[in-house]
Amino acid sequence: MENVLAIKNLSKNFNKVKALDDVSFELKKGEILGIVGESGSGKSTLAKVITRIVKPDGGNILFKGEDFTKLNSAKLREYRKNVQMVFQNPNSTFSPRMNIGDFLCEGMLNFKLASKKEALKKAKEYLELVKLPTDIMERLPHQLSGGQLQRVVIARALTLSPEVLIYDEATAALDVSVQQDVLKLMYDLRKSCDNSVIFICHDLAAVRLVADRIIVMYNGKIVEIVDSKNLLSESKEEYTKKLLGSVFEVK
Ligand SMILES: Nc1ncnc2c1ncn2[C@@H]1O[C@H](COP(=O)(O)OP(=O)(O)O)[C@@H](O)[C@H]1O
Ligand SMILES: [Mg+2]
Repeated sequence: MENVLAIKNLSKNFNKVKALDDVSFELKKGEILGIVGESGSGKSTLAKVITRIVKPDGGNILFKGEDFTKLNSAKLREYRKNVQMVFQNPNSTFSPRMNIGDFLCEGMLNFKLASKKEALKKAKEYLELVKLPTDIMERLPHQLSGGQLQRVVIARALTLSPEVLIYDEATAALDVSVQQDVLKLMYDLRKSCDNSVIFICHDLAAVRLVADRIIVMYNGKIVEIVDSKNLLSESKEEYTKKLLGSVFEVK
């Protein structure tokens, strides 16, 4: 299968903390790649380095074969459009006085993908795609629930037709009852929107439900990469089994 992203020997230190330590993997076209690991294992740093919010100290990130650490500004803009991220807390993504319709149009207008009129029409289509009523376009963020806001954030990321979508603990701040719905939405959208997904989550049980392959991280390093289906039989690492163990204890 074709690789959309190839991550090679990434490293990032914060003072003496090795947040990323020689991390290498590939994201295949159309797959959902799960990333698990306890808090502080480097998952968010990895997402921020891939989306270029944070600069790596070393290593390379190839997007469809092109090294984006060496891209010029026009190419970098294209890369930013193509690699979108959804964060844990939807509230932090909104400006309190911008209505949902304008929020959804912003990216399309910034990247000149549509006129204002076309953008508004598309915004409604994306709201339908994430199963929200289109009459919320006029509303302000505080008039929506956390689950609805997270759907809006996902819809906005999709308005740019990204090839890669990174969810960083995107369900963690939501009520448990809503988490499953958003998880299912993410799973279904991957097919309808034809993109590749990196799904970061500390909860291995949730990751197993949606991911094709799972990367297990610990202390900035990749412990192992396993097929989701064969997680139990294929995993060779004690640490993964410990994460699995904590899942089974919940029963
Ligand atoms: N901006 C920062 N400044 C200093 N240390 C940081 C910063 N971001 C992350 N770290 C440290 O890097 C390590 C990995 O953090 P993070 O990537 O947020 O892990 P995770 O998302 O898996 O919980 C942690 O030890 C964290 O304290
Ligand atoms: Mg994190």
